[in-house]
Amino acid sequence: MGLEISSIMDHWLHTETQLGSTQAMTGVLSTATVNGVPHSRVVALRELDEKGALFFTQRISRKVEEVLKNPIASMTIWLPLSKREVVLEGFVEPLSLTENQHYWELYPRESQLRFWAYAETSGQPISEPGILDQKLKLLRDQYSEQTIPFSPEYCGFRLTPTRIYFYRYLTDRLSEVIEYLKGPQGWKKHYLSP
Ligand SMILES: Cc1cc2nc3c(=O)[nH]c(=O)nc-3n(C[C@H](O)[C@H](O)[C@H](O)COP(=O)(O)O)c2cc1C
Repeated sequence: MGLEISSIMDHWLHTETQLGSTQAMTGVLSTATVNGVPHSRVVALRELDEKGALFFTQRISRKVEEVLKNPIASMTIWLPLSKREVVLEGFVEPLSLTENQHYWELYPRESQLRFWAYAETSGQPISEPGILDQKLKLLRDQYSEQTIPFSPEYCGFRLTPTRIYFYRYLTDRLSEVIEYLKGPQGWKKHYLSP
C-alpha cells in the first residue's frame, strides 16, 4: 500500500509540473502551540512520499519552537493547475545532525549563501532589508573560492503521516476522495464521499 501512495503522489506532482507549475513541491505546514493556537505557513518540500514530507528551515524560527513542543501537525499540498489536494496529518520529527549536513551539501550554493544571510535573524526585527543584502554580498566575497560551510541553523524535519488524504476536484463528473489511514497492520484505504 505504501508503494501505491508514493506512486499517486509522484503521478500528481508530475501532472502538476507537466501543466506548467514550478512550485508543485510546496506545502502549507500547519502547527499549533501547546495551547492549541494554530499557525500555518508555506514550506518547500525536499521529499514527498508515503514516509512523509521533508522540509528545512532556520533553527530559530517559530515553526521549530512549535513542532518541538507539539509535534502534531498537518501539511496541505495544493495543486491548483490539476485541481488536486494532498493532506498529510501526523507527527513532525527533527532530522539528525548527520542528515542535516547531508542535505546541506545537496543544497545549491546560492541557496546556502542566502540561508547564511538571514538564518541568524530569521523572524526577528531588522532596521531595514538592505542590511541583509550587504550581508549576502560580504558572504559572497568571503567564500568566493571556497565551499560554504554548514550552517548550524539549518535544520530539517519530516512530517510522518498517519493519515493521507487525496482529493481530486472534478467538474465533468463527481469529485473523488481517497483516504489512507495507518494502523498497526499498515495502511488501510477508504473511499470517502467528497
Ligand atoms: C514559496 C515559498 C517557499 C517557502 N519555503 C520555505 C521553506 O522551505 N522553509 C522555511 O522555513 N520557510 C519557507 N518559506 C517562508 C515561510 O512560509 C514562513 O514565512 C517563514 O518560514 C516563517 O515561518 P514561521 O514564523 O512560522 O516559522 C517559504 C515561503 C514561500 C512563499
